[in-house]
Order: sequence, then structure tokens, then C-alpha cells
Amino acid sequence: MVQKVQITIDGKSIELNVLEASEGNNVVDVRGLIAEGIFTYDPGFLSTASCDSKITYIDGDAGILLYRGYAIEQLASQASHLEVCYLLLNGELPSSTQLAEFDASLKDKQTVDKQFQQIFNGFARGAHPMSMVGAAISGLASLYHESTDITDAENRKTTAQRLIAIIPTIAAMAYKHGRGETFVEPDPSLGYAENFLNMCFGETGKPSTISPVIAEAMDKIFILHADHEQNASTSTVRMAGSTDCNPYAAISAGVSALWGPAHGGANEAVLDMLMEIGDVSRVAEYVEKAKDKDDPFKLMGFGHRVYKNFDPRAKVMESYCAAVLAERGVENDPLLKIAKALEKIAREDDYFISRKLYPNIDFYSGITLKAVGIPTELFTVIFTLGRMPGWVTHWDEMLSAPYKIARPRQLYLGEHQRDFIALDAR
Ligand code: CMC
Repeated sequence: MVQKVQITIDGKSIELNVLEASEGNNVVDVRGLIAEGIFTYDPGFLSTASCDSKITYIDGDAGILLYRGYAIEQLASQASHLEVCYLLLNGELPSSTQLAEFDASLKDKQTVDKQFQQIFNGFARGAHPMSMVGAAISGLASLYHESTDITDAENRKTTAQRLIAIIPTIAAMAYKHGRGETFVEPDPSLGYAENFLNMCFGETGKPSTISPVIAEAMDKIFILHADHEQNASTSTVRMAGSTDCNPYAAISAGVSALWGPAHGGANEAVLDMLMEIGDVSRVAEYVEKAKDKDDPFKLMGFGHRVYKNFDPRAKVMESYCAAVLAERGVENDPLLKIAKALEKIAREDDYFISRKLYPNIDFYSGITLKAVGIPTELFTVIFTLGRMPGWVTHWDEMLSAPYKIARPRQLYLGEHQRDFIALDAR
């Protein structure tokens, strides 16, 4: 049934179409309003759909997350990250032949050019790895000229695959550079997650010693982060990409947006917060700080713009978190004890219950990564690795159909036009 919305502007009645979603909220099509001399106002895009998309669906009230129609719980328990990457990019799950071809194609693209590796020498040892990763991805534009033909679907596919293939290598290089250690070459005999861990913790030419439990947990972390519809970093990729810029530049814009503690930086911020709390005896004090409106402190790893019931990714992550803690034998780690105490109090406190603030994925992924032995500053890089298939799929989806440069309008509240005053008259 075609729905319409009627609005009245200065006594004139205007009818707006309502576009029907296959799932979830329908949207009022306000594109014609500019002709009426009026814009809509929605800072932070709380009520605004910036595009249409067929990739990911979230029902934040019901705690549902679907990639191409498949529930995150089923994907996380039954699929590998590579299958999920293929699904996101192509819209359907791969057959075993398609998966093998996809795997081979990625393995062809995972090595970073030797000369390009020099870029890392320009970074200080103590530089945050997200700064190195963002710069290195942007720098890839200098290497892959063919990928600048963004109008060619095959070319876009190659670029998308290259970014998924190369991001673990770049991420591991950023880690190794920070430690002053030699880079470890990708090992094509290893799976995606194990190869990444081996490039961080192994040695070139030596067999991998990465535990299967840890490799599996990392693969699940990647799946759980793979896409999340129009979040801040994905919207940034779409916005930058809408200018027809080089794809590596658009993706590096997404990396920058992801870095912030309100988004992908939250997993790192969770650990920083746990260290600041320092002891279980201080948890209640920090919960009070989070509730105090005069205190900017927030409980990192709690709350979400879209999930107002529970974060389905957090539920899956919680179980892998428990498996990793058991495998590592670190259930008694003091920081993890603080995390458990915090989670318990926050789940029982009316402030958090009434505002529907639940532990989000970053709460459990932060704890899991800590138990795996990943240094805190690498947490957001791991989110970057996970989110790459989402970014490239959204970029490709946007360019596959007619699109417009993203150019929001504003509610101007500044001065009216006024005469310039010469310097000596001010
Ligand atoms: N601790 C304490 N109070 C909070 C928190 C928190 N973590 N999050 C929200 N609130 C309060 C907020 O102060 C507000 O209170 P009131 O109604 O009294 O003014 C109410 O809850 C609603 O919050 P909001 O800021 O309007 O919510 P938002 O949708 O704009 O922000 C958020 C969502 C994720 C930015 C925010 O919850 C937050 O900063 N959380 C901590 C950072 C974090 O964990 N981010 C990772 C999100 S999951 C990863 C991802 O998908 O990127």
C-alpha cells in the first residue's frame, strides 16, 4: 500500500511519498522539499536515512542483525569470516568452489610491495597504529592505478578484494613497526585470522604456533564487526566515495572515523577505563561518575545508538570471550574482575536499565583481545580489519547505482550580511 505524508508549509499542503522498506522503518521521501524552500533538520542523523541499501539490516529494539538476510548468530556459529566477506560483497553465500576461488584471489593480493613497506619507517615507534594504518591505506592509491577506474564493476571488485586481503598485512606491519620488529610475511597456507595473528606473533618461514581457539575467536571477532549498515565510518566511506575520489582515500577516511572512542575506539577505551578504575573496590564510584550529568565520564563499552535492547553481537562475543579466558587460564586477571563487577552493577542499576544501556560488542571484544595478549592500542586496528568488507561493499553498492555527491544543508544561525570594517576602524 502506497503511504503518503501530508505537511503544511505556510498554509500550503504538500504531499510526500513514503518509501517502503523490505524490513523495518519506511522512510518519508523529502527530496522534493528543496523546491518548497525548506530543508529538514536532523543533526546526528537520528531520523534520517542517507541512502537505500540491500546489505545489512538492524532491528535495534529486537536486537536483530542480518547480513544479506542471514542472522549474525548463525553466521558467527556456522560460517568463516571469508564466507561472510564473500556474502557481503556478492549478496549470496559462496559454493565451495566459489569460496576456494575467492580465497585464492585474496591470497594473491595480501603481500605489501617491498618499496611501499618503507612508508612505515617514516612513522615514530610510538605512533598510534591507527594513524599508520590510515596513512598506509591512503598511500595504496599511489600503487594501484587501475583501481582508480571506479566506473568499472570488475575493477571495483578487484579493489574490494585487495583491501580485504591486504588489511591484515598492513595492520600487522603497524604492530611490528611499533615494536621495532621485522615484518613477518603473509603465509598463504594459513586461514585469514591465523595468518593475521601469525604476522603479529610468528616468524617468517617458521610454522604457525597460533592456538586454534585464539584463531577461531579472532575469526568470530572479524565476522561480528564485518558490517553495521550506515554507522559513522561506513557513512564516511560513502560520503568521501560520493566525490568519486580514489577508493583507497575513501576507505582511509573511514579508518579515521572509526578511530574515535564513541565508535571503533571504544574497545581500546574499555581497557583504558578498566585500568583507570584499577580495583574492584572502585567500581561503584565509577558507576556513580557515569551517572553524574556534571561529569563527562561515560562507561565505555555500554550503550549504542541503534541497539536499545541488547547488542546481538555482544551476546555472541560474550561466549567466545569465556572460551578465550578459559583457554588462556586468565579468569582471575584483575582487570577482567573489574569488568565483571562493572557489568553486574550496570546491569542492575536503574540509570542503565531505564536508558537501555547494555554492554556492547566492544565491552566483550576488548576483554577478549586483552586475554589473547593483543596490546590495547591494536584493538581499534582489529575493528578496522573486521569492518573492511562492510566498507568496501557499501562503497561498491553506492557506485553500482545512480548516486549524488553527499552534500548536507544547514540551519544557518549566524550574522546577517554586514559591511566590512577597515582594520584601523575596529
Ligand atoms: N555511560 C553513561 N551514560 C550513558 C552512556 C554510557 N556509556 N551512553 C549513553 N549514556 C546516557 C546519556 O548520557 C544519555 O543520558 P540522558 O538521557 O540522561 O541525557 C542517554 O544515556 C542516551 O545517550 P545518547 O548519548 O543520547 O546516546 P547516543 O545514541 O547518542 O550515543 C553512544 C550512543 C554509543 C555514542 C553512547 O552510548 C556512548 O558514548 N557509549 C560509550 C562508547 C561506546 O561504547 N561506543 C561503542 C559503540 S558500539 C561500537 C560501534 O558500533 O561503533
